[in-house]
Amino acid sequence: MEGEVFRTHGFSTGMRNSRPRSQAAQLTKILNLLQFNAAISRYKEFTMQRTLSMIEPDGVAKGLIGDVIKTFMDAGFRIAAMKMKKLSQAEAEGFYAVHKERPFFGELVEFMMSGPVVIMVLEADDAIRRNREIMGATDPKEAAEGTIRAKWASSKQNNIVHGSDAEDT
Ligand code: PPS
Repeated sequence: MEGEVFRTHGFSTGMRNSRPRSQAAQLTKILNLLQFNAAISRYKEFTMQRTLSMIEPDGVAKGLIGDVIKTFMDAGFRIAAMKMKKLSQAEAEGFYAVHKERPFFGELVEFMMSGPVVIMVLEADDAIRRNREIMGATDPKEAAEGTIRAKWASSKQNNIVHGSDAEDT
């Protein structure tokens, strides 16, 4: 009786005939496959890298938020977080602290405070390197064709986007 009920639903106690046993084997295979897929997903999450990206005030002022985001999405990035805000002096100075001895530091900080920016956490395999590839060189004159900066930037300072260049920056 119990075997009948289980057979009706495609399961078996394995007691009555060989067919239910093969169904159990199939079920085991499916479970193994699901476990394998779950392991692959966990591995992918483990190898995913995150990087910081910022659409700078010139990019926002030129109406390029949508174009820049689409560029990253088309390249296979996931946006893990995003926020639009105006940087305070302390935030802008802190953000560019590694450049504080450079002659353009004050000008760069003023520029970064001149309007809102869009800060994003981008996620992909090899995200740091690929983000920098998609942005192009800091100087738009040297940026490869098709990159964000080649298409839309006007100078080394007004270069539409910022992207981290290493894990700790
Ligand atoms: S990089 O990618 O860090 O090697 O580029 P680097 O040339 O060192 O530039 C670092 C940031 O400084 C800005 N920059 C300038 N601002 C104003 N005037 C001049 N001459 C200048 N040269 C470089 C440049 O835009 C970089 O800022 P982000 O936000 O990373 O684009």
